[in-house]
Amino acid sequence: MNAVIRCAANHRSTIMDTKKLFYPAAERNKGPILSILQKYIQRDSDQVFLEISSGSGQHIAHFAPNFPQITFFPSEYEANLLESVAAYANEFVNIKQPLKIDITTDFRTWANGMFKEASIDYIYNANMMHISPYECSIGLFNNAGKLLKNNGTLFTYGPYAIDGKITPESNVNFDKTLKLQDPRWGLRDINDLRKLAEKNDIKLIAMIDMPANNKTLIWKKMLDTQQ
Ligand SMILES: C[S@@+](CC[C@H](N)C(=O)[O-])C[C@H]1O[C@@H](n2cnc3c(N)ncnc32)[C@H](O)[C@@H]1O
Repeated sequence: MNAVIRCAANHRSTIMDTKKLFYPAAERNKGPILSILQKYIQRDSDQVFLEISSGSGQHIAHFAPNFPQITFFPSEYEANLLESVAAYANEFVNIKQPLKIDITTDFRTWANGMFKEASIDYIYNANMMHISPYECSIGLFNNAGKLLKNNGTLFTYGPYAIDGKITPESNVNFDKTLKLQDPRWGLRDINDLRKLAEKNDIKLIAMIDMPANNKTLIWKKMLDTQQ
């Protein structure tokens, strides 16, 4: 490679790297979350995985090379994060360009209606429900109920309350800090989420303890064939 081309190539990669945001928490939890996805994701070909709230893009970039049979669609609500997600996505053939998605809106309005009902195998959402108004949790389950294929899976990750109780003390304090930042934020109760899910033919099938007092919840779209 001559010096000019090498310089141009280096320059390009440097620019790309400066666009990539780096969240230390995402770096710590991406490995444990991947190990859960590996247990629940099928090896079938041509599957579709939609991430809601990709944040920096670190999670999807860590998952995608492990599932070459899947096409990954990252998305973000914050316009200023899309560049970072795109910089990560550009490195993988099975990650599409990030979409701008506000989960409180109907999926038919997203990206010119590119997602059809019952067309998605997996929806993944980490650390959004407690750091956004409750309308975002409602929107997540309403849209997942429409978008997931029957037996499709919704993965959610973060800290949760159960039966009105938050444990341990560090999560109680985290909840208080969140509510001070925005009174509409705070840890969601798994029982409330279960009710939202059931309205959308989604059932909670597993609750997995994760490092740092988080959980991965595994939800399945299950159409009641008796009706
Ligand atoms: C703490 S970040 C989590 C980012 C990433 N998933 C992670 O775990 O590192 C919270 C995310 O919630 C997203 N969010 C807030 N309101 C939203 C909305 N109405 N629709 C979709 N995402 C939203 C923000 O854009 C942000 O990416």
